Amino acid sequence: MTLFSKASSTHSFSNLSTISTKTIIQMNDVWASYDAKNYVLKEITLSINSGTNYAIVGQSGSGKTTLLKLINGMMTPSKGQIRVDYQIPNTKNDKFKKSLSKIGYIPQNLGLVKNISVIDNILIGALPRISKVKSFFKIFPQNEINEAEKILHLVGLEGKRDRKTYMLSGGEKRRVAIARALMQKPVLLLADEIVSELDHVTAREIMDLIADAQKKFNLTAVMVHHDIQLGLKYANRVAVIKEGQKILELGVEGDKIVDFQSGNTSQQEILELYNTNES
Ligand SMILES: Nc1ncnc2c1ncn2[C@@H]1O[C@H](COP(=O)(O)OP(=O)(O)O)[C@@H](O)[C@H]1O
Ligand SMILES: [Mg+2]
Repeated sequence: MTLFSKASSTHSFSNLSTISTKTIIQMNDVWASYDAKNYVLKEITLSINSGTNYAIVGQSGSGKTTLLKLINGMMTPSKGQIRVDYQIPNTKNDKFKKSLSKIGYIPQNLGLVKNISVIDNILIGALPRISKVKSFFKIFPQNEINEAEKILHLVGLEGKRDRKTYMLSGGEKRRVAIARALMQKPVLLLADEIVSELDHVTAREIMDLIADAQKKFNLTAVMVHHDIQLGLKYANRVAVIKEGQKILELGVEGDKIVDFQSGNTSQQEILELYNTNES
């Protein structure tokens, strides 16, 4: 019996879960530079499975934002290979641009339009789906408005539908940015330090909201954090970046923190290492 016929004969709906283990992001020995001289990312190799909540943590300037820009094609690597859903990310490539609507990217400054309403900011997420003319005049079909209202509810902003976005609190603005990303119907959510400037309680609320949305829509999330504890609390995997290199890749298994990169670092060593980096 060939492998193929064996696989197909044992295939049933009950093992469809195997589909969710496919790699959605693959980086092999990736190097990145802004000036073709100094590398701000070096030797980055990582693999992110579909459905994972993946965190990237590291000090300021370690290369976290650059890593997200490589994933959404805003930047291309100097060396090495990246595949996002089997495609080479590059915003100048038309084929990739089409699939870009499947990537909900929330930049560190959130990228909201301040002087328009909450609902109008959310509707921006639908722009790639509507015709060029309608999109130019921002005329949205009723079904998209209904969808935006559902998402408005989901992120807990139903009372703020027509409020101008600049009037919102920091936590509420983040809810709008999440809602706009969800409006894209993304398969991948990228968020750059979305909770860094928030107090602990609000940060947890926003992280819980993302975790719920991730489950509901079966998303893969790649989130940049400053705080390793936050990463470990919410993520399946945490990549620690130091001076452009991935020095650890951690995961929580039961009550243990496991280093998947070397496989033999103790929890104490990991936390000490991280604390040393921060000081
Ligand atoms: N547009 C840019 N031009 C030149 N250098 C940059 C640019 N953006 C970031 N860098 C440099 O690249 C390095 C990594 O930056 P970044 O990815 O923003 O780090 P992080 O997000 O971890 O703070 C830093 O040394 C930073 O100064
Ligand atoms: Mg950054």
